[in-house]
Amino acid sequence: MCLGILLVALTNTAVNWSSSDGFCGQFCHSMTWASVGYKRGPHFIDQVGVSASCGDCHIPYDSQHATTAEYIQLLGFKAQRGVKDFYNEARRTIATNEEWEKRKPALRAEYEGYLRAHNYVTCLGCHRLDSFGGPRNQMKQMIHHEAIKAGNVDCLACHRNIGHVYETGSQAGAWYTIEQAEAGGSLYRRVCSACHGANLEGGAGPALTGASWRQLFGGAKLLTPWGEIKGPMAEYAGINFTTQQSLDVLAFLLWKNGYPAGSEPLANTRQLSEVIPPQ
Ligand code: HEC
Ligand code: HEC
Ligand code: HEC
Ligand code: HEC
Repeated sequence: MCLGILLVALTNTAVNWSSSDGFCGQFCHSMTWASVGYKRGPHFIDQVGVSASCGDCHIPYDSQHATTAEYIQLLGFKAQRGVKDFYNEARRTIATNEEWEKRKPALRAEYEGYLRAHNYVTCLGCHRLDSFGGPRNQMKQMIHHEAIKAGNVDCLACHRNIGHVYETGSQAGAWYTIEQAEAGGSLYRRVCSACHGANLEGGAGPALTGASWRQLFGGAKLLTPWGEIKGPMAEYAGINFTTQQSLDVLAFLLWKNGYPAGSEPLANTRQLSEVIPPQ
């Protein structure tokens, strides 16, 4: 973003400096808002004190060691971006928050298109999908393995708001419809109730309501219970859920836990970055 200015100096230093957070987040006025959203996101300072900076995600090969050919491509990429954004900046098309809000969807679509077309090269420079830290490693592997097998490594389809978070607060939204929860309920009775009880009171597996539910998933993203259902639980039950069926079962669990129903069904993993309230 707005890096073209520096490209007169074709040196490594220029490339590195122009990718630093300070440069992207503060030097260019237009990036102030993106920077605020980035600071609310999970990549600013993570639990282990490592942070991914603007260039790590937005500029290919910053997250990997570039070959000479890639390096030239990188400079080309920077120049292309830079000239455009610098041009906008110079003409003050993104000088106010209002203009930024107007411009954001197009900038976003452009970058998302770039990521898809290049198979998420910048993300995969840091993340391997066959080994994860933290709990539920096996579930995470299974979910990602399935996504790769289906020929779809579309990170943003499941991980929305991963670079930038513009809205905060966790409030149960109207995530699903009653009809969907009922459809999920009949799947639950057929597939899950033997281990989790007809009323979710637990059995071979833990109870899925009340204190037990809150302890398992309070404060987590909807992505977490969904991953459990689509991955290991479907495997325990010896069946293969379609994405829609697993979302229906999740809707049923949300319904039984008192989260409000709405007028739109939960129909897409992209909706699963919402956070379940801790209480
Ligand atoms: C972890 C990767 C990551 C980091 C670090 C990151 N971004 Fe982004 N950025 C994204 C993704 C992904 C999108 C697409 C929208 C989304 O899904 O959040 C995006 C979108 C954008 C957009 C388009 C408008 C929007 O917000 O949707 C701008 C501008 C932007 N980023 C600038 C920056 C700047 C400036 C920094 C550093 C302060 C930065 N980004 C850091 C991943 C990242
Ligand atoms: C410079 C390295 C780097 C880059 C590039 C990067 N990440 Fe990360 N990411 C991290 C670190 C470090 C963490 C925190 C530790 C962890 O959970 O692995 C993290 C955490 C995550 C998490 C878990 C946190 C959460 O709240 O869900 C997801 C998902 C994720 N990254 C996806 C992405 C995606 C998608 C991209 C590309 C747009 C990306 N990352 C780019 C280093 C990076
Ligand atoms: C089909 C949906 C899906 C897709 C596509 C997907 N993920 Fe994930 N991802 C998940 C789920 C589910 C979790 C587990 C969430 C949890 O435990 O809270 C997860 C967790 C993660 C984590 C956090 C692991 C940890 O240690 O907590 C990272 C990092 C991650 N994914 C990176 C990526 C990257 C990079 C891509 C794209 C190359 C990607 N994912 C594509 C569903 C997906
Ligand atoms: C064969 C018995 C069995 C079946 C069938 C089964 N589960 Fe489970 N479930 C368990 C056990 C045991 C656990 C405890 C954690 C583990 O072993 O992974 C568990 C854990 C869970 C958890 C919590 C995961 C966590 O984070 O610890 C959820 C949510 C869940 N099951 C939902 C379901 C749903 C929904 C179905 C139906 C699709 C289902 N389970 C089918 C036995 C089962």
